Amino acid sequence: MPDMRAPKQKLYNGVEIPQIGLGTWPMKDSEAVSAVEQALRMGYRLIDTASAYQNEAAVGKGIRNSGVGRDEVFITSKARSVGHGFKEAKTALEGSLSELETDYLDLYLIHWPKPMLDKYVDTWRAFIEMMNEGKIRAIGVSNFKQHHIERLIDETGVTPMVNQLQLHPAIARSELREFNEQHGIVTESWSPLGLGANDVVFGSVGDLLTNPVITEIAAEHGRSPAQVILRWHVQLGLIPIPKSSNSRRLEENLNVFDFELNAKAMSDLSALDQGEAAAVDSDIHDE
Ligand code: A2P
Repeated sequence: MPDMRAPKQKLYNGVEIPQIGLGTWPMKDSEAVSAVEQALRMGYRLIDTASAYQNEAAVGKGIRNSGVGRDEVFITSKARSVGHGFKEAKTALEGSLSELETDYLDLYLIHWPKPMLDKYVDTWRAFIEMMNEGKIRAIGVSNFKQHHIERLIDETGVTPMVNQLQLHPAIARSELREFNEQHGIVTESWSPLGLGANDVVFGSVGDLLTNPVITEIAAEHGRSPAQVILRWHVQLGLIPIPKSSNSRRLEENLNVFDFELNAKAMSDLSALDQGEAAAVDSDIHDE
């Protein structure tokens, strides 16, 4: 099988993160083991899981089965809201490490801000300490809006290295992306193809894979609609983590580093944005 490893980007603390990864929600058990194993053999080097997905043990098994060395794989996991709070976050990390059967994570994220708990700053203080202890190489957040991140920075002085957001051409998050960029925060895109359970129907845009703007660009480049969407993420400096449990689609999704979208294609794709109101609202979302 050809080696199609993605290029890497540097987080502000110097840790390198691959420009594309495998999302693992909602795969479980043998499906997750097999997808992770296949993906790593193909050249994926970033695997994204979370305590809430209840698949960390399967992901760990897939990594070991692949034969790819632990130090070559970038593992991300996330602390769910029951892990919010200083002590709770420490317990949550130990749980994830034990499920994954590893002694460190490459990236640990606060999964949701859950402002109604008002504990994400305490969680963040524990994350900073765990990173300084060497249990996590980089720390970040997921689904955080500007005002949540500003609180973390104001109260702890430590900026997240990553903010993972629901993001694709129909939910382009342009203001939040710009805020992240201004603060040196790398943006990751969950549900990058717009096919997740939270992506209902995007007004006039509809299903992205059959949207005519996208299928036309795909035909012009001799690529699939999914590849065009993933290339849009990559050219914007985002890190998409598409999920697939199908080997053909796993390969297709990784194979986006040998073509380029021109400025018109990029702006036509960005024009599909339905605005912030189409995104899951993390101020009220209940995990
Ligand atoms: P499957 O696992 O059968 O490939 P997202 O990561 O944006 O949430 O999208 C995940 C969904 O998109 C899954 O249902 C996955 O199904 C499907 N999918 C992943 N890659 C592709 C692709 N290249 N073409 C079409 N569907 C895809």
